Amino acid sequence: MKKPWAGRFKEKTAKTLEEFSQSISFDKRLWQEDIEGSIAHAKMLHKQGIINKKELEKILKGLSEIEREIKNGKFQFKEELEDIHMNIEKALIEKVGQAGAKLHTARSRNDQVVTDLRLYLRKKVKEIIEKIRKLQKTLLSLAEKHINTIMPGYTHMQKAQPVLLSHHLLAYAWMFERDKQRLKETLKRINQCPLGSGALAGSSLPIDREFTAKELNFDIVIPNSMDAVSDRDFVLDVLYCGAVIMMHLSRLAEELILWSTDEFSFIQLPDRFSTGSSMMPQKKNPDPAELIRGKTGRVYGNLISLLTTMKGLPLTYNRDMQEDKEPVFDTIDTVTMSLKIVDEMLPLVEFNKERMNHQAQRGYITATDLAEYLVRKEVPFRQAHEITGKIVLYCIEKGKELKDLTLEEFRNFSHKIDEEVYSILTPLGSINGKSSYGSTSKESVKEQIRLLRKSLEEK
Ligand code: ARG
Repeated sequence: MKKPWAGRFKEKTAKTLEEFSQSISFDKRLWQEDIEGSIAHAKMLHKQGIINKKELEKILKGLSEIEREIKNGKFQFKEELEDIHMNIEKALIEKVGQAGAKLHTARSRNDQVVTDLRLYLRKKVKEIIEKIRKLQKTLLSLAEKHINTIMPGYTHMQKAQPVLLSHHLLAYAWMFERDKQRLKETLKRINQCPLGSGALAGSSLPIDREFTAKELNFDIVIPNSMDAVSDRDFVLDVLYCGAVIMMHLSRLAEELILWSTDEFSFIQLPDRFSTGSSMMPQKKNPDPAELIRGKTGRVYGNLISLLTTMKGLPLTYNRDMQEDKEPVFDTIDTVTMSLKIVDEMLPLVEFNKERMNHQAQRGYITATDLAEYLVRKEVPFRQAHEITGKIVLYCIEKGKELKDLTLEEFRNFSHKIDEEVYSILTPLGSINGKSSYGSTSKESVKEQIRLLRKSLEEK
């Protein structure tokens, strides 16, 4: 097949090069955006008197036929035509002849590919925002359901202070809230129009970039044609956002894995989202959570991959930049699927409330509350910490929990301790005692639910 650049060449392209340089196998997923961009470009060419009405009509008809063929799986994608842009253009010329040959006027694949990618990412980022919103709703329902479930909170993976399971789950809802904000920010930078930049320097023909930008619902026209065709920072934004989302999902996944162990026994994972072992009949494995944790590495890799591709490129377009697509498609697919699976799985997780509560009774978990109790009795915090530390050591030696000590035993350490101390030594007492903003108290958790609900209602 004759290449569009054949005029300057004496030889045909080597088969190996065609195979090596093709991107059609993965960029065919930009077909819809490619057609959308071409429609806007063709309308502009007509409005500017560069093509006539008849030619525009032919182009539009041809493009809509191509669209139908691709949708029906009838379209023949050809490797020797390299990418989606040349595949569609060539098919158009075959269908409508000379009019089709005018479509590429004042356009280069350099501005075309980046236009397609921006249109595609705009759509996908919005879809991911919706998926996050959905997952947040799931987390909120769980938080409401478990507003009375008490569990141990950890630092260094050691029991630290009792918390409400709701508070723990809402921590993730807040992380996802910021993930959404980040994506919304990114959308602003994605939604800028490069079309009409040509190969790098613009065009001598009387094009109207403002018009195509409006047709394609871009917010602004990129003011510098060299910048427009040569940067991929908006793709990196998406890759970074994706990496952070996966990091958050991976931490949640890790907790699900840990909590489902026999040792923890905090949760029971649904059979529907677990797999067995081919050898050990008793096994029930948390594979989806492990896969999310595992895929996070790949999504980080996608970000590093494109950063590395871009770092040494002189302006403007270089073919290296074709390497932007596979990482970003992979990140989009992985993030989308991971959000979906976590959202489907979470409501089916059974929380073992008794076990969580039981574990929250142990490990001198209310020691900090005891120290703060002493502070309220006007003991300086450093001394209160020291006294409480000694009480804990005594408990360890006696094999008792704090709440099991008699008042006499307490008073051996500080005469400021009296009967009411027992009310703050239980996990519930500890949680109810929290009064600071953002704490694990029930009021604070309810306030968080209110704030998140409000934000979820706003579009
Ligand atoms: N397939 C190319 C890409 O993905 C399209 C742009 C090609 N431009 C060029 N001058 N070879 O980047």
